Amino acid sequence: MNQVVVITGGSRGIGRATAMRYARRGARLVLIARDPLALDTAAADCRRLGADVLTLALDLSRPGSAERAVDAAILRFGRIDVWVSAASVFSYGSTEDTPDDVRDRVIETNLLGPMRDARAVIPHFRARSAGTIVFVGSLFSQVAGAYVGPYVAAKHGLLGFARALRQEMLGHRGIRVRIVLPASIDTPIYRRAANVTGRTPYPLPPVVSAKRVAHAIERAARGHRREVSVGAAQFVARPLRFLAPRLYDRAMRLLQRALGLRRRPAPVTTGAVLVPLQDAGAVSGGWRRFPRGRR
Ligand SMILES: NC(=O)c1ccc[n+]([C@@H]2O[C@H](COP(=O)([O-])OP(=O)(O)OC[C@H]3O[C@@H](n4cnc5c(N)ncnc54)[C@H](OP(=O)(O)O)[C@@H]3O)[C@@H](O)[C@H]2O)c1
Repeated sequence: MNQVVVITGGSRGIGRATAMRYARRGARLVLIARDPLALDTAAADCRRLGADVLTLALDLSRPGSAERAVDAAILRFGRIDVWVSAASVFSYGSTEDTPDDVRDRVIETNLLGPMRDARAVIPHFRARSAGTIVFVGSLFSQVAGAYVGPYVAAKHGLLGFARALRQEMLGHRGIRVRIVLPASIDTPIYRRAANVTGRTPYPLPPVVSAKRVAHAIERAARGHRREVSVGAAQFVARPLRFLAPRLYDRAMRLLQRALGLRRRPAPVTTGAVLVPLQDAGAVSGGWRRFPRGRR
């Protein structure tokens, strides 16, 4: 394969699973995240699989970071074939209770970050007449969920942006714009979320493995499908939202209150939203080993 693949958010969850999938396929990798410890362990996993890996500890919610990443990747490997935008942070809280700085950083990381990624890497793709950008959207790019408003807003925006960018690239046959839309995935994101609800967050079932999303990302990058959904929840939520929007709103609010935010008390936290939380990182958040959790 020998592709050069840049993965933002490559130290944990879906990004890390994607890095390992590409490592197995012989890619050269650039992994980007804020916490250097998790980046190092992700890189070590990929090197064990035979990959040449460059790590970049950058905050992609900041202007200029994506350009630095493009320059560093080209300096090290000479080109970029695939760019996967998977960096993300999450927050739980009502619109009134969520602090301004948390809301803004969720938007900066999940929406402005990938938009800046595209602005930085597309000139390189144009110069080579080749390159693929894969955005990681969400089921929340197409339907809403209560108490996660900034994330829903960012992911709706990201799907719109991906579609606009795809139209702009229509004359450039070698440049591909893809978006993968996962439902609930077993990653550490929920435990690292900001939370002002006083309740304990859980991913809404059914929870799918990050490996499945990694597979979808890698296939989307080399295939023809421009928008790829992962997880069975999509096939219930989207038709319900379309056919019975009022029922969808009631059902989703109920689900979030009963299963997404459980009664077990949780401290108020900004999680990993404003500053990275240092640990070794992982692909899984452990949600599929204990699928029922505790109420
Ligand atoms: N998990 C789900 O259920 C789910 C469902 C649908 C869509 N998604 C989407 O899938 C993608 C991956 O999510 P995930 O669940 O794998 O999340 P995750 O396990 O929390 O991993 C997020 C990654 O992004 C990095 N990151 C966060 N903020 C960053 C910043 N400002 N600059 C650079 N890197 C940053 C994190 O490392 P640091 O904290 O060290 O920076 C980490 O490597 C996201 O786009 C997410 O929205 C996830």
